[in-house]
Amino acid sequence: MEQTSHIGISPLKYQPGFEVLEESETQSRDNLQYTLRKISEISYGQSTYSARSVHVKSHGLISAEMEIYDNLPAPFAQGIFAKPKTLPLVMRFSTVPGDILHDKTCTPRSLAIKVLGVEGERLPGSEEAITQDFLFVNGASFMSSSVQVFLSNLKHIACTPETSTEFRHFLSQIFRSTAKLIDSLRSGQQILIKNLHQAQETNILGETYFSQDPIMYGNYMAKIAFVPIAPELIALTNKPIDLFASDGLRKSIVDFFVSRTAVWEMRVQLCTDIHKMPIEDSTVIWSEESSPYVPVARITAKPQIAWSPYRSHVVDEGMLFSPWHGITSHRPLGSVMRLRKMSYEMAKKMRAEKEETRICEPTSLDDLC
Ligand code: HEM
Repeated sequence: MEQTSHIGISPLKYQPGFEVLEESETQSRDNLQYTLRKISEISYGQSTYSARSVHVKSHGLISAEMEIYDNLPAPFAQGIFAKPKTLPLVMRFSTVPGDILHDKTCTPRSLAIKVLGVEGERLPGSEEAITQDFLFVNGASFMSSSVQVFLSNLKHIACTPETSTEFRHFLSQIFRSTAKLIDSLRSGQQILIKNLHQAQETNILGETYFSQDPIMYGNYMAKIAFVPIAPELIALTNKPIDLFASDGLRKSIVDFFVSRTAVWEMRVQLCTDIHKMPIEDSTVIWSEESSPYVPVARITAKPQIAWSPYRSHVVDEGMLFSPWHGITSHRPLGSVMRLRKMSYEMAKKMRAEKEETRICEPTSLDDLC
């Protein structure tokens, strides 16, 4: 443990022994791959919109800039945050389900960002790119832990009125078998599968987003949050929104960016205790009392056309966001992240088979202008 009393915490350095593969992990991964492929095939068959099998509906496609803060304390000045600089990025706000639903259907909200111009040793499978992706969901609580969000989404799709009875029935079966598989990854721990969706007719721009799963942060381990800081955004937190229109969330984002500027912060929470802040169980919330989220960068998005069919073509169809796109200093950690690697690779393959648009890692955001 490194003593860094001036920052009030003692961050723990990563050790390979902290990552522990479950005995059944490989088999579970293969089974999950099969299950996800089935879900994707059905989603594609049902939808006229073919780009994604989950997180399919985008509400905002935004170009922005990330300004990495100067004078960060050493444990926070790691990876892409090692030096002060300004980098371009693209943001994709979406909701989790795999089909295009009326926005009144309450589902978890998500945010994917892709930072460009990143330097450093690359993760396997992302060698040629200059990007670093971060993926977030609007919840960090136990009941919205990563696996549960994913599974509850499947359950949610299975219960959506827009989905055909046959499809719902089929997905219910898949949901149950996937739940068992994920359960088998966590010996001795029963995952509670509940319908987590509460009434949530609030503005999507006021949300705080969480990585939920940990990543490497240089030699440390961290979770990341994406937090609104502009007063105009904070005013939207928990603000009810009229979702009478089926694309009400998209409309609210587009309206905001007609004349206003949005500012968020990326904040980093470092692991200080591997037992209380485990990397292999993403259902555990890391205590903010033991290790608070510390701001490392500011993200600014100026007025723009925040969603258009053209932007959807460029971002929804032409890009894939994955926590495994990036540099080794931010390598994803833990069993869920290992599962996700295979899932996003498979999604890429499936999308390549179905879509006419080539998916590639951008080298500039000129196309978004
Ligand atoms: C076992 C757990 C998970 C699995 C199997 C999984 C799988 C997937 C898949 C297959 C996609 C679609 C990729 C594409 O077609 O482009 C996706 C998208 C996404 N996932 Fe996950 N995911 C999991 C957990 C999570 C967690 C914990 C988060 C964040 C906290 C997350 C955030 C996202 C986001 C934001 C997207 C949309 C990316 C975009 O905008 O293109 N996922 N996920």
